[in-house]
Amino acid sequence: MIKARLSANENPFGPSEKARKAIIEAIPESFLYPRQHLMDFRKMIADEEGVSEDHILLGAGSGELLVATGMCYTFKGGAGSHVVSGDPSYMQLIRTVTQIGAGWEKVPLNKKYDYDLEAMAARVNDKTSLVYICNPNNPTGILTDANKLSAFCETMSARKPVFVDEAYIDYVADPKKNSMMSCIKKGQNVIVARTFSKVHSFAGLRIGYLIALPDTIEEISKFGGGGGSISATSVMGALASYGDKDFIKYSVGKNNEVKSFLYKTLQENGYEYLTSQTNFVLFPIKMDGKRFVEEMMKRGVSIRNWEFEGKHWCRVSMGTMDQMKIFADAFRTLA
Ligand SMILES: Cc1ncc(COP(=O)(O)O)c(C=O)c1O
Repeated sequence: MIKARLSANENPFGPSEKARKAIIEAIPESFLYPRQHLMDFRKMIADEEGVSEDHILLGAGSGELLVATGMCYTFKGGAGSHVVSGDPSYMQLIRTVTQIGAGWEKVPLNKKYDYDLEAMAARVNDKTSLVYICNPNNPTGILTDANKLSAFCETMSARKPVFVDEAYIDYVADPKKNSMMSCIKKGQNVIVARTFSKVHSFAGLRIGYLIALPDTIEEISKFGGGGGSISATSVMGALASYGDKDFIKYSVGKNNEVKSFLYKTLQENGYEYLTSQTNFVLFPIKMDGKRFVEEMMKRGVSIRNWEFEGKHWCRVSMGTMDQMKIFADAFRTLA
C-alpha cells in the first residue's frame, strides 16, 4: 500500500477553497459546453501577462500542448529533423518527436547541473525543428539565470523556435523576472508553457496553457489544444484559483517548509542534494536506483530514480509534512 506518493510532483496543499467552491457551483450548469468560460479564462491570462488573447492556447494540462508542439514542429521539419534539449530534462515533448520518427540531440548539463547553453547552441543546425528548455528543470530543480537564458532566447529564436517549459516557475522567488514571457513581448519566437498542476494543485483537474506569438499559436493549435478538452468544472476552478494570491503564497510556503525538513533529513544522514527551486528534490543515492525505488516502495513510499553522470539519483516530490516524515523514516532504514 502506498502511504506517501512522492513520484509525480503533485501538490497536496490544494486545490484552494475558492477553487473547490467554484467547482461545486459549476456542476448544475455542466451540461453546457464551457465555451464562454474558456474565453474568459484566456482573457484573464492575457490581461495578467499583458498580451492579446491570440497569444494564448489552452489545454487540459500542459502535457497535451507539449505533445501538440512536438507534432507540429516535427511535421514542419520532416522526419530527418530533431529537437535539441539538455539532458536530463522533462521528456514528454522529446518522447513525442522521437516516437514519430524525429531525432533528439541531447546536451549534457554542466558541472553545476545547469544547462550548457553554448553547447546547446552549437548543436543547432538546419535540421533542428525546436529547442526545448525546461526552467526550472525537471528532474534537477535548478533554475537557469534569467539574464543568460533571455540572451540565449534572443539569439536562438532568430534561428529556431525556443520552447520554455515553465511548469515550476511559480515556486521560484520572482516568477515574473525569471519567466521568458519578456522575450515573447519583444516579438521573439519563444513559446512558454505553464500548468496548473503544480502550485495550483490541479494535476487531476487538468489545466495548462501556452503563450507565444499569434502565428506560432495558430500553427500549434492545428495539432491540438484550444481548450476543447477542458471540462466546465475545471475551467471554473481555474478561474477562481488563478488570481488567488493568498493561496499561491500558502502553497509555496508549505512546500518550502517540507523542503527544509527534507534537506535536514538528508544532511543528518550524510547525503548531498541539489538545492531546488521547485516542489521536488534530486539527490545522489548510494545504491542502485532501481533497487532503491523497490525498497522504498516496500516501505510504502513511491519516488523516482535517475541515472546520469555515472551516478544513481532519487527524485522525491514534496508531499505533506506527514508524508515527508514517512519518507524520512523509510529512507533512514536504507541510508
Ligand atoms: C516540466 C513539466 N512540464 C509539463 C508537465 C505536464 O504537466 P501537466 O500535463 O499536468 O500540465 C510536467 C508534469 O510533471 C512537468 O514536470
